[in-house]
Amino acid sequence: KEDIITLAIESSCDETSVSVLKNGRTVLSNIIASQIEQHQKFGGVVPEVASRKHIENINIVIEEALEEAKVSFEDITHVAATYGPGLVGALLVGLSAAKAIAFAREIPLNGVNHIEGHIYANFIEYRELEPPFICLIVSGGHTHLVYMKDYGKYEILGRTRDDAAGEAFDKIARALGLGYPGGPQIDKLAKIGNKKAIAFPKAYLEEGSYDFSFSGLKSAVLNYLNSEKMKGNPIVIEDVAASFQQAVIEILVEKTISCALEKGMKQITLAGGVAANSGLRQLLQEKAKEHDLDLKYPSLKLCTDNAAMIGCVGYYDYIKGHHSALDLNGVPNLKI
Ligand code: KG4
Ligand code: ZN
Repeated sequence: KEDIITLAIESSCDETSVSVLKNGRTVLSNIIASQIEQHQKFGGVVPEVASRKHIENINIVIEEALEEAKVSFEDITHVAATYGPGLVGALLVGLSAAKAIAFAREIPLNGVNHIEGHIYANFIEYRELEPPFICLIVSGGHTHLVYMKDYGKYEILGRTRDDAAGEAFDKIARALGLGYPGGPQIDKLAKIGNKKAIAFPKAYLEEGSYDFSFSGLKSAVLNYLNSEKMKGNPIVIEDVAASFQQAVIEILVEKTISCALEKGMKQITLAGGVAANSGLRQLLQEKAKEHDLDLKYPSLKLCTDNAAMIGCVGYYDYIKGHHSALDLNGVPNLKI
């Protein structure tokens, strides 16, 4: 059987990424051009700036990915690109480039759901991993507890009812004057702060629910900061970061573990940008061990947005006999 060489493109938010993969799980290159610097001064991603930056970057990143993989356009046999969810202008840049390559080279194209991509980062990291498993997806835009039954088959067991976990990290970081993106900064400060310093409320919701809610916690932290300022008390930001992070990760971990136990699943995986959080990795690992469950999470580079994870989804879709038409559009609110 001939090898499938996939060129994958991710441009749903503020990273222009291109990857070349062999047979879905062997990453020959995974180039990520971050736009963080361009957005930092605005305290968040500016959609118009993101689209323009993707246009400037895309051809350069494609060239780099081919070069690092030591292949040429002639060697590429398959194209994959994120078509949602994300910023529509940003999505269209990567998707249009992918369509142009598929059309010019007369090779198949697979449009990929970005959230599925995050789950599949685990398949790249662990070549022996197979579904079924429970996956906690925590990113800047999403918080889902998913039962992955097979490739492409999911049951959503829980989701956030308001803010995504990463969004909560970013908003609290902003209130603490830590800049964008806030998750990594809070993670760093939390390591030196006291996680028991402030008892922030944790929303468990109704008994048996696997949904999440972070807006109450976010308000509680903002109220705490305001009232301490009004009282003229000094704020120990390391303690606020550690206590806030602890509240978030305790809820995530507790619900993930009870979900796995209820479903009788021995395997848990973690995915998305917040999966890079060291406190979350550590606590989930501890609790998984306690319950004799196996936990897998991707390396840091594969947790945050990258094209390799997109190529992996595209590959499995393709070998199942699916491919996308060249009139595929970007879908900003695409669901898993
Ligand atoms: O998956 P991702 O790169 O983009 C989306 O699809 O949203 O996730 C980005 C999110 C941001 O909210 C960022 O603050 C968060 O992941 N993040 C972290 C850490 N690294 C990134 N949150 C907590 N701790 C981290 N170490
Ligand atoms: Zn993402």
